[in-house]
Amino acid sequence: KWTTENYIEEEIQNIKAIAGDKKVLCALSGGVDSSVAAVLVHKAVGDNLTCVFVDHGLLRKDEGDQVEELFKNKFKMNFIRVNAKERFLGKLAGIEEPEKKRKIIGEEFIRLFEEEAKKLGKVDYLVQGTLYPDIIESGTETASVIKSHHNVGGLPEDMEFQLIEPFKYLFKDEVRAVGTELGLPEEVVWRQPFPGPGLAVRVLGEITEEKLNIVREADAIVREEIKKAGLDRDIWQYFAVLPGIKSVGVMGDERTYSHTIGIRAITSSDAMTADWAKIPHEVLDKMSRRIVNEVDDVNRIVYDITSKPPATVEWE
Ligand code: XMP
Repeated sequence: KWTTENYIEEEIQNIKAIAGDKKVLCALSGGVDSSVAAVLVHKAVGDNLTCVFVDHGLLRKDEGDQVEELFKNKFKMNFIRVNAKERFLGKLAGIEEPEKKRKIIGEEFIRLFEEEAKKLGKVDYLVQGTLYPDIIESGTETASVIKSHHNVGGLPEDMEFQLIEPFKYLFKDEVRAVGTELGLPEEVVWRQPFPGPGLAVRVLGEITEEKLNIVREADAIVREEIKKAGLDRDIWQYFAVLPGIKSVGVMGDERTYSHTIGIRAITSSDAMTADWAKIPHEVLDKMSRRIVNEVDDVNRIVYDITSKPPATVEWE
């Protein structure tokens, strides 16, 4: 009989049998799949697992610290955080085109991951949070970038990994159940999807640290208000974008000329199609007031009322 407990027990035995006492590496993104996979594999191989978390400086507010706290301090794993904000922002300077940004981030991510892997010496196994639907059509999470890269033989010859994919036959809801059973916090197990390139695709056009800070603060408010309103399980994704438009406003008796923030919130079951979320006006009102009051250099808030298609979920 399939139960979460049985599954975990069996999978731990499987992984033990496969990995023995060899070294195992996991690219942790903080997303649901890689997080649950890391904890499960840790149960099987303990300190033979090393998790590498590349912090590209494009994460949401406090996200990097939360990931570190959870895996390093709570679960006591071998956890390497690569703080690479400067390196990513340097590579992205002056780049406006969305697909170029994605490509740079993807390549830099792999490069940093390889550098860390090399420092560890011989590693035999790589953990992947691949789900059953990812096998049918290629997924969009960061981990799959490594997978396709690996598949095309992009990794150096001396870095041949075998894959450990404990969720290859599971669906997302089953992975969530496994995560809950393994003691991962609700915020991780029920985390909304977040793109690998992070806030880079939510600052339209050229990325600057200043713009990143604005969108990060605005996004934190959007998320906080959605949670407070109890809507976080009903809405598939909800976030702020910075279109880079400045417009005229008035504050006290002063004229302002500041940024616009776009709020995007969608309902969906797979992100292939989506509808804009009918968030109660009071909640939108609260977000709008708070963002304008609490985030510097923002004087106007708009709500995105387009479905997918014709719009996409992200603005880039
Ligand atoms: P779009 O914007 O294409 O998004 O409607 C569909 C889903 O995919 C996510 N997304 C990405 N995820 N890397 C990712 O890992 C990306 O470059 C990327 N672009 C979009 C988006 O957040 C939504 O869930």
